[in-house]
Amino acid sequence: MLIDSQTDESTPSPPVLEVRKIVKTFRHVEALRGADFDVRAGEIVGLVGDNGAGKSTLIKTICGVYEPTSGTILVNGKEVSIDSPSVARRLGIEVVYQDLGLAPDLSAVENLFLGREIVLGGKFGQLFGFLNRRAMLHETNEAMTRFNLEIVKPTREVGTMSGGQQQRVSIVSAAMGQGRVLLLDEPTAALGVEARRRVTDLIRTIRDGGAGVVIISHDLPDLMEIADRIHIMRQGQRVAVLDREDFDLELIVDIMSGAFV
Ligand SMILES: Nc1ncnc2c1ncn2[C@@H]1O[C@H](COP(=O)(O)OP(=O)(O)OP(=O)(O)O)[C@@H](O)[C@H]1O
Ligand SMILES: [Mg+2]
Repeated sequence: MLIDSQTDESTPSPPVLEVRKIVKTFRHVEALRGADFDVRAGEIVGLVGDNGAGKSTLIKTICGVYEPTSGTILVNGKEVSIDSPSVARRLGIEVVYQDLGLAPDLSAVENLFLGREIVLGGKFGQLFGFLNRRAMLHETNEAMTRFNLEIVKPTREVGTMSGGQQQRVSIVSAAMGQGRVLLLDEPTAALGVEARRRVTDLIRTIRDGGAGVVIISHDLPDLMEIADRIHIMRQGQRVAVLDREDFDLELIVDIMSGAFV
């Protein structure tokens, strides 16, 4: 029986993440011109738009990499100020950037635990922050098994790995965070067929666990397969939102290119 009043249709719960009228300018470039966006708990939203539409800038603004010029961000209906990536993370927002955002000189394990390292117990661990490398490697191996996504030699520096391998490190890292919002900028672009399928499965599992997932992708057929809704951006604004039953490749392309107004 449902007793939570939030589940009553007359008072739907607010989106887990909502962006209202975000503007972001870089000197003379208006990358975002009053963009709106929202994702609910337990859904996958596809975010599409031509090159330069503002998708990555929107994600980076939500994650505290860029400070918005103006506009509002709400988490579970409450206005928040996200002025650094660590604040975003504390709010449960995990991200895999298009340019991955990994530290190339560190190993995969070190990247996975960046900012949340496990220290050794006892006086020395607590006082000097000595790292418990075995525990971190163990958790990494466990996460790889859980997510069915292998990382070749997790102790290797990620800067020496291929693009696809680095992408897996980023995705495992975001999935390990157990956030309520997961933002993925081109998550499968550098992956082979098999890894792509596993990432898609992993994204569905994360969605079914109740998180809101946002996927930026230029692969429209792939996205139409997995997304519950698709938001279309053009020239720094959201110009359309399609529900699953309205997905249509030609329509999406037309709206993206501005042929359909
Ligand atoms: N750091 C920056 N400094 C100046 N201009 C920027 C910066 N980042 C993005 N832009 C500009 O903002 C606009 C939006 O770029 P953004 O990277 O958000 O697009 P995108 O939708 O992610 O495109 P793509 O599909 O190619 O990844 C572009 O005109 C881009 O040149
Ligand atoms: Mg981009």
